[in-house]
Amino acid sequence: MQTTESDSKQQKLQGRIGPAASRVVEAFAGAAPGLALVEERIKSCLRSDAELLETIPHYLLTQGGKRIRPTLALLSARMLGMVRPSSELVDVAAGIELIHMATLLHDDIIDESPTRRHKRSAYVEFGMMPSLLAGDFLLVRAFGLCARLDSFIIEETERTCIELTEGEILEGVLNDGITRSFEDYLDVVGKKTSSLFKLAGKVGAHLSTSDPEITEALGEFGHFAGTAFQMIDDILDVTADEDLLGKPAGTDLRQRTPSLVNIAWLQSEDPAATEFFASEKISEADAKHALDYLSQSAVVSECREIACEYAAKARASLNKIKHPELQLDTKEQLLAIVDYTLERCL
Ligand code: FPP
Ligand code: MG
Repeated sequence: MQTTESDSKQQKLQGRIGPAASRVVEAFAGAAPGLALVEERIKSCLRSDAELLETIPHYLLTQGGKRIRPTLALLSARMLGMVRPSSELVDVAAGIELIHMATLLHDDIIDESPTRRHKRSAYVEFGMMPSLLAGDFLLVRAFGLCARLDSFIIEETERTCIELTEGEILEGVLNDGITRSFEDYLDVVGKKTSSLFKLAGKVGAHLSTSDPEITEALGEFGHFAGTAFQMIDDILDVTADEDLLGKPAGTDLRQRTPSLVNIAWLQSEDPAATEFFASEKISEADAKHALDYLSQSAVVSECREIACEYAAKARASLNKIKHPELQLDTKEQLLAIVDYTLERCL
């Protein structure tokens, strides 16, 4: 029987599915009723007199996305006994996804990234100015949702948005004359990626329990899970192909992003790394050569080990939570999300 191109793509993706994948399906199924409410709440926030302010967010929404942040908020609350999500939880989970959508619109403009989730980036499709304003619109809608809630949620959301902007501005590029340590990397990732995961864990817990230690532990879980998630993303940038990434491989290399892999390559004292990032122009051939070398290198193996360490820290944060109504099946689903994150790159 003849195999079509799309059959073979499908088989390639299925080949990547390992034991954590079926457990993660359960996790998303567990969150599904809550996620449907979150999706409705998001859509109800997208009404505007300006058509493009509705079209652009819908464009982003229909490209898929895993809704991993709202899922973390819903499962965090459920693990502590909130089986049916409260209206406040749905608001805050929707707010978190709206903030995430705003950052994607702005980030693609900043990174001049032509593709996201297999489609043209919003600013390429609709123009720079409307996409920038759509990001602002989503951010204000998110604040509209969160500002109805208590001061803890308002303050945590504000802190997170400040961290997102700090992370994005501090990240910089590898030829700006500044040497990056692993600690600098952790600081940037903590702000630009882990902060929203941390917010999700924290507010999910906060709405379900009055115990500040548990709220802190779920925030810590989100922080470490988010860090591992970004590390895997950085690894996949050199090991995966466009089918999986939804954008060309090697983007971090070409853009000289201080990703985990790029920092580890520079720290390996391989003179080729210094030369690559310092070169005036990175040609397609140079990028392809670096990609081929790195994807099989000890640098990537070392990065995988580091990502595994952060996933283990996430598991430990969850395991230290003691609560009389702890829902073990939901805890298992949160752990499955962490395992699946790792499985994508192992
Ligand atoms: C994606 O990183 C970028 C972020 C997660 C943070 C973006 C933050 C801003 C644009 C600041 C604006 C803040 C608000 C609150 C609107 P990446 O480029 O490594 O990931 P990618 O591969 O998904 O593009
Ligand atoms: Mg980007």
